[in-house]
Amino acid sequence: MTAKVDSKEVGLIAGLNLFNFFLGTRDLHYGLWQDDLEVCIQNLPAAQQRYSDFLISHIPAGVKRILDVGCGAGGLASELLARGFEVEGVSPSPLLSEAAQQQAGEGFKIHQGRFEDVRFDQEQKFDLVMFSESFQYITLASVFENAMQRLKPGGYILICDFFKTDAPGRSVIGGGHPLKKFMAALEKSGLEVLADEDITRETAPNLDIVDQMGRELLHPTFKLIGYAFDSNHPWLAKLLRWKYQKKIKKINRKYLSGERNGENFALHKVYRLLLLRKPEQ
Ligand SMILES: C[S@@+](CC[C@H](N)C(=O)[O-])C[C@H]1O[C@@H](n2cnc3c(N)ncnc32)[C@H](O)[C@@H]1O
Repeated sequence: MTAKVDSKEVGLIAGLNLFNFFLGTRDLHYGLWQDDLEVCIQNLPAAQQRYSDFLISHIPAGVKRILDVGCGAGGLASELLARGFEVEGVSPSPLLSEAAQQQAGEGFKIHQGRFEDVRFDQEQKFDLVMFSESFQYITLASVFENAMQRLKPGGYILICDFFKTDAPGRSVIGGGHPLKKFMAALEKSGLEVLADEDITRETAPNLDIVDQMGRELLHPTFKLIGYAFDSNHPWLAKLLRWKYQKKIKKINRKYLSGERNGENFALHKVYRLLLLRKPEQ
């Protein structure tokens, strides 16, 4: 039997293809919208570049070997390789690995599989393990222990990702480990916290762009398709609406309700960059 394709993976690749086609971006992370950058879809590549620069600026001096966990389409790995770092990636997605290999070149070694499952040579140690918007996908219970096993003594973990706050109510924006659970796991890990920066305000505008796309692109497009279908195939349209009523309701709530915006993101999520250090012994 062939393995089931993960719908999140399909979503990431569909987004990658769409934004690559229209904007030429091959990054899969949020943009960093600093005050001088107008929030509009055309500026997404510039905002994503600012995020990459911000992340890379937190790599401590002396770091040479980096493990890029959840390397996406290889955008960050390419930048790091170009800056002279030795980089290896971890990727559970064959389709994204293919894109990453193409972008970062044949010399970029990708460990295929989930970080939880990939087996490394015991000798193979890194100076820094990086999680750029991939931390939220990885099992919290074992992530620090696994990352520390891959590090030399005194090595670093760099996390840039969002977490769930405990604001009341249900958010239509998914993803992120609960912040309280993350903090408890971090405290238990024995890692030293060297930097902890909150970039929620600068990342929330990504959701305003998603909201605008919902209102100005998806909603009118779905409406138009519905209108044409209702007129040309009224019985089939009724049947499909009835059969997929739950799915349609979910899509409407998630993407078309107008709740998927920066304000809600800033209420239900907190986006943090953390630089952590493994003790010397
Ligand atoms: C939002 S993308 C971020 C990609 C890239 N790091 C970036 O900053 O553009 C999330 C990445 O996490 C990867 N991922 C998901 N689950 C994972 C797991 N269990 N172990 C390792 N990577 C995982 C996905 O395949 C994808 O590459």
